[in-house]
Order: sequence, then C-alpha cells, then structure tokens
Amino acid sequence: MRVGMTEKPFYVTTPIYYVNDKPHLGHAYTTVAADAKARFHRLRGEAARMLTGTDEHGQKLEQAAREAGMDPLPFADQNSQHFRDLWEKLNIRYDDYIRTTEERHKSGVQTLWRLVQAAGDIYKDEYEGKYCVSCENFLTDLQLADGKCPDCGKPVEAVREESYFFRLSKFQKPLLEHYARNPDFIQPDTRRNEIVRFVEGGLRDLSVSRTSFEWGIPVPDDPAHVIYVWFDALSNYATAAGFGKGNGFPADTPWPADQHFIGKDILRFHAVYWPAFLMSAGLPLPRQVFSHGWWTIEGQKMSKSLGNAVDPHWLIEEYGVDAFRYFIMREIPFGADGDFSHGQLIDRINSDLANDLGNLLHRTLNMVKRYRKGRISHASDAADLPAEKEFAAAVAASAASYEKQMESTNLQAGLRSAWEAISAANRYIDASAPWALAKEGPEARLDTVLYHAAAAMRVVAAMISPVMPGTAENIAAQLGLAGDWTGAPFAELMDLYGLPGELETKLGEPLFPRIEEDARAKLEEKVAARIAEGDEDGSGKKAEEDNGRAGLITFEDFQQVELRVARIEAAERIPKSKNLLKVEVSLGAERRTVVAGIAKHYAPEELIGRTVVVVANLEPAKLMGVESQGMLLAAEGADGLKLVGVEGDVPPGAKVR
Ligand code: MSP
Repeated sequence: MRVGMTEKPFYVTTPIYYVNDKPHLGHAYTTVAADAKARFHRLRGEAARMLTGTDEHGQKLEQAAREAGMDPLPFADQNSQHFRDLWEKLNIRYDDYIRTTEERHKSGVQTLWRLVQAAGDIYKDEYEGKYCVSCENFLTDLQLADGKCPDCGKPVEAVREESYFFRLSKFQKPLLEHYARNPDFIQPDTRRNEIVRFVEGGLRDLSVSRTSFEWGIPVPDDPAHVIYVWFDALSNYATAAGFGKGNGFPADTPWPADQHFIGKDILRFHAVYWPAFLMSAGLPLPRQVFSHGWWTIEGQKMSKSLGNAVDPHWLIEEYGVDAFRYFIMREIPFGADGDFSHGQLIDRINSDLANDLGNLLHRTLNMVKRYRKGRISHASDAADLPAEKEFAAAVAASAASYEKQMESTNLQAGLRSAWEAISAANRYIDASAPWALAKEGPEARLDTVLYHAAAAMRVVAAMISPVMPGTAENIAAQLGLAGDWTGAPFAELMDLYGLPGELETKLGEPLFPRIEEDARAKLEEKVAARIAEGDEDGSGKKAEEDNGRAGLITFEDFQQVELRVARIEAAERIPKSKNLLKVEVSLGAERRTVVAGIAKHYAPEELIGRTVVVVANLEPAKLMGVESQGMLLAAEGADGLKLVGVEGDVPPGAKVR
C-alpha cells in the first residue's frame, strides 16, 4: 500500500430484508454470519465495512401495507426499525444501513438503469406469464409445481402487462466464462455447480418493470413503469457504496463487494441476474456470493408457529446473545442446511460454553486468585519446559487453522479450531496440576503454569471475538487486559506470549451457567407454549393456511403426496438397530432403498416378494447411516404393525390414488 492511499475495506453485505415480515431466525443467521466475517477481518487489522438494510418496494410490500391499513412508507418505516432493533440486540456492528426508499438509492438505481439501457440491453415488450408475489419472481407455466410457486409453494398470479425486458440471454456466455475464470465467485462449490448447470441450460430475457402497481422506483422517462423490485433491491450493494452520485462509483468507494452473504433461496438473483446487470453497465462485479443453507426447526420446515419458538428476541432473552450467536455459527457448516433444536442448543451451552470455555476461564482465574492474590507474574517470555513448548505449539496450530478457516468463511470450523485451543489448555492444566504446585512448589513453576493458562485464554478470547464479541470482552476484562486489547497486531493476538507478564486479574461470575435438568424442562414447556401460541396468534394466517377448517387439507394438498406400489426385492437388519430394517424395493423403472421401523414385526426373509405402498416423494433422510429414499405405509393393529398392500395384480410403480 502506498502512503497516502487508503486501503479498500473488505466489504461484506447481507441481503436487504423485506419489511413485510418480522425479523426471524433466517434473517438473524445471515446477519450474524456477515457480522462475524467483518469482525474477523477487523481483528486481522484490515479495514472492513459491513452493509445491511431493508428491501421496501414491490408488490408484496404494497399488499402487506394495504392489509395493515397503512401507506407503504410509514409501514416500511415501522418495520425497518424492527430489523434495526434486532441488530442492536444481537450486537451486529454494521457500518451502513440502506433502505431502498432512500433518495441515494433511488437515484443510483435509475443511474444503473440508464447505463444498462444505453448499452442496448433493455427493450419494451409485453410480459405474459405467472408471478409469485411472495418471492417477487416471474415464472413460466413449466416452472410451476402443481400450479404453485416451486420455491415457496404459494399460489401465483397470472400477469399480462407491458414490460421492459433485460437481455439476460445475451449474458449466458459471459457469465459462464466468469464462473470458470473465478471458481470462488459462487460458494459453496455445490451451489456453483447448480448455477453453472442452470445457466448452461439457457437464459430467457428478464422482465424488469411492472405496470400493474405503483410502489417502486419509476423507470427513467417512463413513469407508468416501476422498476422490477429485484433490479431495485440488488442495486443496494452498489448504491450504498456511493454508486449513482455521478455516473459511477466515487473514488473512495468500498465497491466491489468482497462477499455477498445470502441464503440459497436467493442465489439465482445474486449469481446470475446481478452480475449480468453489472456486466451490461460495464461495472466491476462482486468478488464472491456465499450462499448458506436453511434452518429447519425441531426437524420441521420453518412456519409461523415454529418461527415463534425461535423468535430471535426470545432466544436472546432465554439463552443470552452470545450463546445464540455461537449456536447458529457452530451447529452447522456454513453453506449446509441444518436443524435448530432447543435440546441441541442447551447441550452446546452446557458442554462447549459452560464446561469447556467457561470452566477453563474460571478455574484458571480462581487459582490465580487463591494462590497469587489475583496477580499474574511471569518473567520469561520463552517457552519454559517441554510441557509449555508442547502447549504453545498446540495453541499455534489451532490459531493457524483458525485463520485459514475463517478466511475461507468456514465459520463452524473456525470455532472448532478455537475449541482445540481450549481443550489443549484444559489438558495442560490437568497435566501440570497447579494445585499440587501450590502445595509443594516449585513456586516459579506455579507462576509459569498460571501464566500459560491465562495466556491461552487471551488467544481464545481473540479467536471467538468475531462470533461472541461480548464474551470475548468479558474474558479480557477478567484477565485484566486494557480496553483496546484487540488493537494488537493479529500475529500477537494469536501468540501465547502476547500476554503481558504482569497482570491484575479480576475473577468474575461464570461466563455461562449450566442449564440443569429442571431449567431444561421449563424451557421445553415454554417452547411448546410458544409453538401453540404461534398457531393461534389471532392473525387469521393459520386459519387461512388450513382453509378455515382446522385439520383438513385440500385435494391439491393430498395430491402432493406421491404414493406408489412397490415390490420388496431384498431386506436386511441394520446392525445395532432394534427397530430398523433396510429394505430394497422396486418401483418398476427404479429401485430404492427404504429404511423401515418394522424389525420387531417382520423378519427380513418374510418380506421378499411382497407388494407394498411407499411414499415416493419423501425427502431422503439418513437413519443409522443408511439413506432412506421413501417410506413404507403400515398400520398398527393389536398384534403389531401390518404393512399396507394392494389387492390383485398391480405392477410395481403404479400410482396409488
Ligand atoms: N429482499 C430479499 C433479498 C434482497 S437482497 C438484494 C429477501 N428478503 S427476505 O427478508 O426474505 O430475507 C431473506 C434472507 O433470509 C435470505 O438470505 C434467506 O435465505 C434467509 N432465510 C429465510 N428463511 C430462512 C431459514 N429458514 N433458514 C435460513 N435462512 C433463511 O429475500
């Protein structure tokens, strides 16, 4: 870097959230991840800039405001504030908050439109097709799933209106070339492959304006059209970086973004449309789009009632902000889908946070207090004995892997590396037995051991600070470190011997009290109550989902279950399982493996050749290490389970209706 030039900050973004909805776990997840990544870069001494905000235009918002009996803008004002409130509670350190109703954004979007138009990539025509208001997405009949939106499952609208189109088809080749030249542009790799296949399949021009409602940014020189909400929304990353004040970006812009954090549901918009708009306008592309997975709640798809049981505000109150942040970053690999379960969260609090981390700090500072009146004093800055050498090497190894993992956004693995250092420290203390040294000496060795244990705590605090900033500060305060301790060079923060030789420690309360059995039971009751409350929140939403008749489903709902006749070709017990059999069935054209809980009711041999009914479109699930690709139907009688079969001669594969 040349003197006088400022370094371009590492620029991280979250999606801008729709303000028709209250912030939920999914929003919190993306935002905590982006915050953790930005904090990691700051910890390394780099400038980092984090952007979040709200997506406030479009048909969905206009409808939601109308339903609430409000005008769109005051409605958006009110709901945008809910997101800000949550980010404050969640300790999110963002540098800018963009709202698409702001002037700086609107003028930027119109500038981008003009550039794309000047490039000859916008033309007027008529759009005829389907539209999913919930996803704000145009769909063809072929894309529909049973007449509904393939992504969110909601009903779609038929739309026929004059529309401007963007020549997306023209960008098929340039996009594929870009993906090939920049293998990290879309992460994780599985998602990149999906997008590459999608683009290879051909791109249709994209409708980029609407005329049947008004809540949006007018198309320049043609105000009967509002700009398509995704063209508008995606531009936020650039308009927040100053784009549109003139004809391009200002000199000190953080653009291009280094990472767009998003969920997998909105990858296509970010990895196909957004780079195509930018290419058309001749602007630099973001460096990476990182798409994370989706949470299920207690094994089920997130819904209104289940959402209530994972309301981030409530989770923060019950478990504390850092336990919540830790859990969502630690529980699943960033990029994969995962399940949010209160039981798992409590287990992690008890084992990782209370037992491993909390206990390490507490036992260390407790000994410093008892044996040394709270003072750490250590003269030598070199590794003292083989035990210390080995310990320092273990901490250095975990610090190295921590940096590598965090750098490549493996946030879960980054935390695991921090826990390797914690385990090494707990082992080091056990092996060096300071309590024995306190009784029998030698005195100098006791100082050495206490110093090394405390020194590990400082490295650990630095490592966890991006994910658990409050806890890291608490640890630093208990260690007696100065307020600006994270300002030290990163290499020093990761170095055991970066701890000053003389310190006045202040033992505090345990960081994370264990959640004992009775508290756990109470929490489980509260979760159940919240799920029930979410079902009857008086919004009428649930009743609508049930078609007004509790418990009944529509014929279309029933048709979503694909039942087929199958013939059992083979069956065997699953080792170590009392209940499960691995059953191979023929569905005519294909063979499937199904794991069935019938081992207590049928011997494998008696199953061969039977005709049964399977649920053929059930999401695959792994049971005892075997992937089950369907489910056998059975009914419970007085003498156990009985498989459902079919009378007469029906070939395998036949549909059951
Ligand atoms: N407004 C658009 C984004 C525009 S960005 C230019 C939008 N907003 S949203 O409010 O629906 O928020 C979407 C974010 O929440 C996505 O990143 C999405 O993946 C995430 N989640 C919503 N439900 C989720 C889960 N159940 N699990 C994890 N994340 C999920 O889309």
